[in-house]
Amino acid sequence: MIGVIITLTTNSTKIHHPVNEMNTDWKNLKVLPQNITKDSLMFVMHTFNASLGVDCSHCHAAQKDNPEKLDFASDAKMNKEIARGMLVMTNDINSKYFLPHVPDPKPKQITSVYCITCHRGNSNPEAYLQGVSKMIPILMPLKKNEMKMK
Ligand code: HEC
Ligand code: HEC
Repeated sequence: MIGVIITLTTNSTKIHHPVNEMNTDWKNLKVLPQNITKDSLMFVMHTFNASLGVDCSHCHAAQKDNPEKLDFASDAKMNKEIARGMLVMTNDINSKYFLPHVPDPKPKQITSVYCITCHRGNSNPEAYLQGVSKMIPILMPLKKNEMKMK
């Protein structure tokens, strides 16, 4: 649901929630809208956790003075930057290849791509792709070469 949710929150926070818009004070949003409400942002973050099978600290670094707590605005963790790219990619896929091509009324088909479409509860989709490659032997030599190069 993530792509749709992000599109919805992008539009609806701007139009319908001027009060929340004034009250949000995010320090370091580069992809999500600056005026996103706390509820919407937390919904997105919890969807990330569920889709990747991780918790918040997978992407958010610990505070320098208190390692027990997370510094959500910090970009110290590479996974956070990767997640930004994934967010842009997912929105691009939906806006280019899905949403404009869905006739109304909607048929029973995939209408959007979400984090979970690829991740399926794994931070690294390669975890289950290794199982798939047994079914598609042609993938195996490719993967072995990639491993050697690393
Ligand atoms: C898969 C990676 C990922 C996970 C897991 C994740 N986040 Fe985030 N979070 C991000 C990214 C990326 C941004 C910045 C989005 C942007 O730049 O628009 C962000 C931004 C935030 C912000 C805004 C900080 C600011 O002021 O700029 C908060 C608060 C936040 N996350 C809380 C959480 C919480 C709480 C959890 C766990 C429930 C969580 N995040 C899990 C990737 C993640
Ligand atoms: C089209 C498929 C696809 C979609 C959609 C997708 N991802 Fe990914 N993601 C991948 C693949 C494949 C990798 C592994 C890349 C590698 O390691 O070579 C990955 C890796 C990542 C990583 C880094 C690996 C790790 O261990 O955490 C993060 C973080 C991540 N994705 C977050 C997200 C988030 C958040 C979304 C939704 C906004 C998302 N992804 C949507 C395919 C996808």
